[in-house]
Amino acid sequence: MSVRKYLPQDYDQVVSLFRALPELFTRRTVCNVGYDLKDYERGDFRNILNCLVFSQEEEIQGVLIYRQDHTGDRVFELKWMAVKKERQRNGIGCSLVRHAEYLLKDSARLIVLYTSNTPIWNSTKEFFRKLDYQEVAIIPDFWDDGDDRAVFWKRINKGV
Ligand SMILES: CC(C)(COP(=O)(O)OP(=O)(O)OC[C@H]1O[C@@H](n2cnc3c(N)ncnc32)[C@H](O)[C@@H]1OP(=O)(O)O)[C@@H](O)C(=O)NCCC(=O)NCCS
Repeated sequence: MSVRKYLPQDYDQVVSLFRALPELFTRRTVCNVGYDLKDYERGDFRNILNCLVFSQEEEIQGVLIYRQDHTGDRVFELKWMAVKKERQRNGIGCSLVRHAEYLLKDSARLIVLYTSNTPIWNSTKEFFRKLDYQEVAIIPDFWDDGDDRAVFWKRINKGV
């Protein structure tokens, strides 16, 4: 069991992780994850992403895709994340986020992530709170009317 960098041959398994959670990820979202992975494979300079997977033997059980947000100074965004339902609450998500934080310890000042304020995302928010991310803002009706954007934030490095 280990966290490692995504490889192109992981594509189908990674997309399947999101497809297997249709209550959270719409078909459009799953397509966007696929586009991001293809950008990542191409090293698309406009959308520089990093992707970590948690694998056991050849099976991918979790994934985290993150990117630098160049609109701020040394800000990184945790963009997409999923752990196989039957493997949730086994520390996989925690290992992925901790690994990304370790890789970013010298290059990030802040890490942010955006989720929804609807109850279906409550466990996701609990997860990030447990990892010391603070809910710092709500943008009303961002995703849709009645579906607010919740902004989570963590300071990684005080910088110079
Ligand atoms: C959120 C998610 C990535 C967490 O991954 P995970 O491997 O299940 O989480 P971990 O086992 O590492 O959990 C670490 C801690 O977070 C908290 N936590 C995790 N899931 C939780 C839940 N459903 N309810 C309450 N707390 C939770 C717990 O404190 C947990 O520690 P504990 O199990 O010792 O009590 C996973 O549940 C998931 O894929 N959810 C659906 C997709 C999603 O929300 N993606 C993120 C936004 S794109």
